Amino acid sequence: MRARIADVLSRARRRTTLLTDSVDEADLVAQHSPLMSPLVWDLAHIGNQEELWLVRDVGGREAVRADIDELYDAFKHARSNRPSLPLLNPEQARGYIGSVRDKVLDVLDSSDLTGNELVDNGFAFGMVAQHEQQHDETMLATHQLRIGAPVLSAPPAPVAQVQVGGEIVVPAGEFVMGTSADPWALDNERPAHPVHVEGFAIDVAPVTNEQYLAFIDDGGYDRPELWSERGWAHREEAGLVAPQFWERDGDRWTRMSFGARIPLRPKQPVVHVCWFEAEAYARWAGKRLPTETEWEKAARFDPKTGASRRYPWGEDEPAAHLANLGQRHLEPAEVGAYPAGASATGVHQLIGDVWEWCASGFEPYPDFRAFPYPEYSKVFFGGDYRILRGGSFGTDEVACRATFRNWDHPIRRQIFAGFRLARDLREDER
Ligand code: AVJ
Ligand code: FE
Repeated sequence: MRARIADVLSRARRRTTLLTDSVDEADLVAQHSPLMSPLVWDLAHIGNQEELWLVRDVGGREAVRADIDELYDAFKHARSNRPSLPLLNPEQARGYIGSVRDKVLDVLDSSDLTGNELVDNGFAFGMVAQHEQQHDETMLATHQLRIGAPVLSAPPAPVAQVQVGGEIVVPAGEFVMGTSADPWALDNERPAHPVHVEGFAIDVAPVTNEQYLAFIDDGGYDRPELWSERGWAHREEAGLVAPQFWERDGDRWTRMSFGARIPLRPKQPVVHVCWFEAEAYARWAGKRLPTETEWEKAARFDPKTGASRRYPWGEDEPAAHLANLGQRHLEPAEVGAYPAGASATGVHQLIGDVWEWCASGFEPYPDFRAFPYPEYSKVFFGGDYRILRGGSFGTDEVACRATFRNWDHPIRRQIFAGFRLARDLREDER
């Protein structure tokens, strides 16, 4: 357990270091978009959360820097204002997170990882590692928004191994949603609870660039009847004509990917669309977005045993042949690239590649209990958010499982989000 924790923490730190050492000082303190913090804020915020939970709370040690908590409290300052704060400079931030980590490794050595809910099974350490990786994905999104020559590189994502398409029918019935047993599951994933789900059909693969292009070519962005009222108002105001980072090049499309302009790959899932675009596409296709419950049932339910799996493919930890996670590739993989990662119901690429927008808002499960702090989930329940499931190529496996719930505003596009479609069953299919 101790070794696994040390490993997960150091993997997160390697990624944080890569994302922040790859740009110069000016870039670290610059604001690349009002939607994002300067990278140097994320850097010290990662250390500050680690200090609060592991050095002070779990370790009962003296503060490393008691004077900066307020600066790095995400609720105290909007992202757009963070560049004007008296932040630690890059050198100070690096020094700070290093001192915190040294203390944490010491705490890890001396903690017996049991005795109270915060440390049982290393929960607080797992939570902090997930937090760092979540900010690493946020920092990757900042890299995507950054103007300038490419600084990140990675091997291309795998191509299709099998042809996938069409949909899978999941018959009506109960399944167990959420988890009580997963030691590092966060509060909003808990507890496990049975849910009856009406029969539905869900697409085997996420919507691809070529499918999305057909929507554009069919005038999808110019037909208000395909959009909800709010969606159309947003499409007008924001001047949406294509996914973010797409550019028309004569009669072809390209997309900007981490500083490089690249041709659109037809069989890769579409990414950088907002919920309203997904909703309009779904209406155009005569379908709808899956509810969060449908998504999780398609991902976890094993009809043979009636049990819910941790991942679509079973209980094994994600490996390179199962899902496109962990910033191993800086793009989604073609649909059909991960046959071994399919769910028991036969649905592909639920984990990794792109976060998938669901129809549902962010609400607590029955008997939800905020733990260890209400600002992780509770304060967001009932807000103007939509659920995202499954993680993206930018998500680390420690922060991704089939119960993991993410959420964002329906207008957001800078996150690595796409979607797949679902529909109600017809009378003759029930
Ligand atoms: C769960 C991804 C919505 O990034 O705002 C990071 C995760 N919470 N620090 C976010 C989070 C506190 C959160 N999301
Ligand atoms: Fe945070």
